[in-house]
Amino acid sequence: MRILVCGGAGFIGSHFVKRQLAADEDVVVLDKLTYAGNPANLPDGTEFVEGDIAEASCLERVGTFDAIVNFAAETHVDRSILNPHEFIRTDVHGALVLAQAAEERGVRLLQVSTDEVYGDVEEGWSSREDDPIRPSNPYSASKTAGDLQVLASVRTYGLDACITRGSNTYGPNQYPEKLIPLFATNALDGASLPLYGDGRQVRDWLHVEDHCAGIELVLREGERGGVYNIGAGDGRENREVAQRIIDLTEADPSLLRHVQDRPGHDRRYSLDTTKLRGLGWAPRRTFEDGLAETVGWYRENRAWWEPLKSDEYRAYYEQQYASRLR
Ligand code: NAD
Ligand code: TYD
Repeated sequence: MRILVCGGAGFIGSHFVKRQLAADEDVVVLDKLTYAGNPANLPDGTEFVEGDIAEASCLERVGTFDAIVNFAAETHVDRSILNPHEFIRTDVHGALVLAQAAEERGVRLLQVSTDEVYGDVEEGWSSREDDPIRPSNPYSASKTAGDLQVLASVRTYGLDACITRGSNTYGPNQYPEKLIPLFATNALDGASLPLYGDGRQVRDWLHVEDHCAGIELVLREGERGGVYNIGAGDGRENREVAQRIIDLTEADPSLLRHVQDRPGHDRRYSLDTTKLRGLGWAPRRTFEDGLAETVGWYRENRAWWEPLKSDEYRAYYEQQYASRLR
């Protein structure tokens, strides 16, 4: 099977590509190489086309393929609050372009989505795939609209598509703007760890390899039009994650700073993964082991992340955190 992996130069997409290549699958990557896309994430010799999923003409440059897996997205909530427009272009319009391309070619589309489409989840409840979708911020609203375009194409045009809704993912090669790589790299540099609000927000952490295994299974065995949650079922408060990173890096605990909260901040996510577990999936890593390994990776791979903390990154960081850390 030749798989078109959109957004394959990003964090999760590049792990998915490596997994497919290791299994001797044929892969072609289409990626716009935004600030989050990094060719260094891909093995040498990976077939690569630079292009924007929101432009249908790009697909003519990738040759034939048997399936599309779409990781391409603007993905950071804080950036979406500063500038939502690019999120509509990629996460909504781009998803529709890929749905049309898959339908025209008669191939399956797997749309990679997120647990954030469900919005806040009350203590004691875990979101099921048919729960109401109540996104809270411009990123999750855009991902939700992308999901709805894909599902509408299934119903209206007979598209063969599945959607996965994964929870917060961590592991090597994650751009250092998200909580775990930001705190790990800041702690290694002796810089502040800016914890939003009271730090008691809960996220259901999923190792990137477990996330990719779920996507791969749904690509092969998911029912047409099916939505599948992917989560390890191991919710942790942000303050616990921060403390673990301080312990693992042996950083000075005074680096931890409670700062002004994120507007519209979702308090808790939690997923019911009964449906995916019914296909035979289960997470393989504990959070303790996965986090220790991930922090170790950042410690050993400064050459990967130091160049990313460049001019564009510093400008973003200043805009996002200067007033919070003052
Ligand atoms: P990422 O930000 O690391 O990478 C996104 C990739 O998409 C980059 O390579 C970027 O260059 C590319 N891209 C962006 N716009 C594009 C466009 N218009 N055309 C082509 N390529 C484009 O993202 P990630 O964390 O690997 O997330 C991948 C997918 O998984 C996203 O759809 C995201 O919504 C979803 N997801 C992420 C998480 C998480 O915790 N990271 C959790 C659940 C779901
Ligand atoms: P993030 O990694 O941005 O993922 P998401 O917003 O998609 O869940 O954030 C994870 C949690 O960490 C979220 O509750 C916000 C919090 N957070 C901080 O407290 N400080 C930070 O600097 C960042 C980036 C996130």
